[in-house]
Amino acid sequence: DVLASSAEPNNVSFGAAVPASDFPIIEQLKKSFANLVRTEKFLGIGYDSGKGCPQLRKQLARRASDAGMLVSPDEIIITAGCQGAIVLCLRSLCEKGDVVAVESPGYYGLLQLIESLGLKALEIPSDPVRGMSIDALQLAVEQWPVKVVLSVPSYSNPMGALMPETAKLKLAKLLEKYDLPMIEDDIYGELSYSDARPKAVKSYDKGGRILLCSSVSKVLDPQLCVGWVMPGRYREKIEYQRFLSNSSHFALPQLAVADILSRGRFDRHLRHAREVYSQRRDRLLDLIALHFPKETRITKPQGGFVAWIQLPDGVDSTEFYHLAKAEGVIVAPGEIFSTDSSKYHNYIRLSYAHEWTREREQAVVILGNILKAELSRFT
Ligand SMILES: Cc1ncc(COP(=O)(O)O)c(C=O)c1O
Repeated sequence: DVLASSAEPNNVSFGAAVPASDFPIIEQLKKSFANLVRTEKFLGIGYDSGKGCPQLRKQLARRASDAGMLVSPDEIIITAGCQGAIVLCLRSLCEKGDVVAVESPGYYGLLQLIESLGLKALEIPSDPVRGMSIDALQLAVEQWPVKVVLSVPSYSNPMGALMPETAKLKLAKLLEKYDLPMIEDDIYGELSYSDARPKAVKSYDKGGRILLCSSVSKVLDPQLCVGWVMPGRYREKIEYQRFLSNSSHFALPQLAVADILSRGRFDRHLRHAREVYSQRRDRLLDLIALHFPKETRITKPQGGFVAWIQLPDGVDSTEFYHLAKAEGVIVAPGEIFSTDSSKYHNYIRLSYAHEWTREREQAVVILGNILKAELSRFT
């Protein structure tokens, strides 16, 4: 319902985590497509190699060093988005009934995926600034038969938390000690508001136990449906699962992404996006301070474009979601970010990627008024 309502053109949506649509890179992508259609052979080429387009894998291998990873193009497999990469990892590593440790609150898409594969999610408490608690994870691993860890260490969804370097190193050591694989979802890693992007946990991985998954859905456009996995020691299993799920992936979007990545324009785009998203975050914080009740608390993400908001006590965020939707404003209610629907019942996630038009600013005023009316019912 959140996604369908977000896509409804008459609504103002803060509900879905989609990137901004007002960046020049979109026009550049269209030009790349037009050029490639004229010059490249992308039909009549049969099935792909089983790994995806070599030009794209070469570019991704080159960029991996920014996150502290040394991987060759041969160690990268192109997938249908980041979600597509994570499905392949879970299918390769788990059997029905296995336990997957995930951060809490966590992205609902991953929780639903775990459920749909017949796996069990074990929620590990996470801090709004530092991300998943490594101490809590250690306790969980000692008590439960955890098969795999699934985490978004750099700018998590929904909190926007960034796990510090020391914790990333500690996590890599813990995985080594317990011989545990981890799926590292790095989809927001490039969207750091500081100059350098954070290192991946995989950069500390000595034994090839970390499968890093990502996509261009947040940095370019989810329509491209271009993702990848750097599977470490699980390469053969992932290639087999990829073959089982789609034996080919359309080459044209992969070639367009490779083209964009091969030029300085992608780095220019990233510098622009990072600056604009940090300004849009600041505007959100100002608007919340102005229009929401004073008991409201909000995270201050240092990257990505989602913020996690604690509403005043007594407000139920699912009820709030429906009241806001009736006024044409869409938020993501807290309950969808956990397997326990009561856990985050007074939280919401707001996505702030889009430009602050008058209409969007007015929508925040509407949200604030609904909250104040709800609060006045209790006092
Ligand atoms: C943390 C996280 N992982 C994965 C995805 C899905 O990525 P994709 O659209 O590339 O499949 C999302 C999308 O919102 C996300 O926030």
